[in-house]
Amino acid sequence: MGAHQTHGTRSALHTAICDRLGIPYPIFGFSHSMEVTAAITNAGGFGVYGVTRDMPDAISARLAKIRSMVGDRPFGADLLLPLGMADKNDWAAAEAKIPEGHKAFVRHLKQKYKVPDPTGKSFFSSVVRSNELFEAQADALLKSDVNLFASAIGTPPHIIKRAKETGKITLSLVGAPKHVKYAKAAGVDLLVAQGYDAGGHTGPIGTMSLVPQIVDVAEEVPVLAAGGIADGRQVAASLALGAQGVWLGTVWLTTEEHRLNRHILEKLLRAGSADTVLTRSHSGKTCRVVRTAWSEEWDAEGAPKPLEMPYQHVLVGELLTGVMEHEIEPLMYEGAGQSVAWCKEVSTVGQVIERLVAEAQEALAALR
Ligand SMILES: Cc1cc2nc3c(=O)[nH]c(=O)nc-3n(C[C@H](O)[C@H](O)[C@H](O)COP(=O)(O)O)c2cc1C
Repeated sequence: MGAHQTHGTRSALHTAICDRLGIPYPIFGFSHSMEVTAAITNAGGFGVYGVTRDMPDAISARLAKIRSMVGDRPFGADLLLPLGMADKNDWAAAEAKIPEGHKAFVRHLKQKYKVPDPTGKSFFSSVVRSNELFEAQADALLKSDVNLFASAIGTPPHIIKRAKETGKITLSLVGAPKHVKYAKAAGVDLLVAQGYDAGGHTGPIGTMSLVPQIVDVAEEVPVLAAGGIADGRQVAASLALGAQGVWLGTVWLTTEEHRLNRHILEKLLRAGSADTVLTRSHSGKTCRVVRTAWSEEWDAEGAPKPLEMPYQHVLVGELLTGVMEHEIEPLMYEGAGQSVAWCKEVSTVGQVIERLVAEAQEALAALR
C-alpha cells in the first residue's frame, strides 16, 4: 500500500505529534526547495522550507507558492539565527575586516580552477549575515501563514515570542543538552535533536548519543531525531530512543522534485557516509558537506584557517557564485549528512516517504 493510501488509517509509526499537527506520519523534511517542501507535506509528512538563503523580499512569495501547492495541509519555514553577528547588513564594513592573506588564497583558488567572474550578484555575494538581515527575514516569515516556525543555531526569545503571538508552532534545532534550557525558556513547542552525522551546520555529538540525552532534559517538550537518518530502521530506532518523530535533510536532495545541479547530484549519488566532511570553509561555522576540491583545498597544508561567520561568506561569496554559475565541477558542493549513503538513485519525495514508512513498520514488527 502506498504512503498516500494509508492516510486514512493509523500507521504503526503514529505518535502524539501526528495528532497534534494533523499529519499521518511523524516524518519532517527540511529543504531549500519549495517543490520538495510541498511534496513532503502532500505525501503525509511535514515539510519545512529553509529561508536562510533567501532575500527578505523574496520570502513572502515563496511561502505563498508552497501554500498554493499544499492547500490546508501544514508546513513550516526555518531560519538560521546565530548570535554574535554584526548589527548591520554592511558588506563594505565586513569586507574591510578580511585579512589580506585570506584574500590572496581566494585569488589563488580562482586562478588555479580558472573560475570566471560571475555575471551578477547572488545572496552569497551581496548579503552579510547580520541582525538586520535576520529581523527582515523573520518579519517576512512571521507575516506569512506558515503553520510552524523553526529556528536553528540560535533561539532568540523575542522572535520565538512573536512567532507564538502569530499562532505558529515553534521549533528549535539543538545539538547539545545544554542548549535545551534556552529553547525551553524561550517557550518552544518542539525540539529537533540534531546530531553530528547531519548535513549542514552541526555540533560534535553523534545522533545516537544525543537524542536520548535531549529527550531526558526536554521533559514534556516533544523531540524529533535528526542527523544521518535516511532508512526506516533508523526511524524505528529514533522512536525507541524516545523521539516522537524524525527530521531529515539530505535524503531529499536527490529527489526528482529537487532538481539539484547535475554535477552535485552525481557527487551525492556516488558518495558514502565517509565522503562527507565537517568543514568551516562553507560559512565559518562547522558544517557537514560532501567532500570536494573545495573542502580539500581549505584543509590542505598551508591553507589559511577559514574565517568566523559571517566573514567566511563575505570572503568566498563572490568566488562561489562564479563556481556555481559557470559550473566549475571540482569545486561544486552541497551540505550533506552521513545519510547520503542511502541516496543511491533519484526517486520522488513520495517514494522516499513510502519507503521510510514501510521499512520502519517492518523494523517495528520484527521487534515484537
Ligand atoms: C543542504 C542542506 C542545507 C541545510 N540548511 C539548513 C538550514 O538552513 N537550516 C536548518 O535548520 N538546517 C539546515 N540543514 C540541516 C537540516 O535541517 C537537518 O537537520 C539535517 O539535514 C539532518 O541530517 P541529514 O542531513 O543526515 O538528514 C541543512 C541540511 C542540508 C543537507
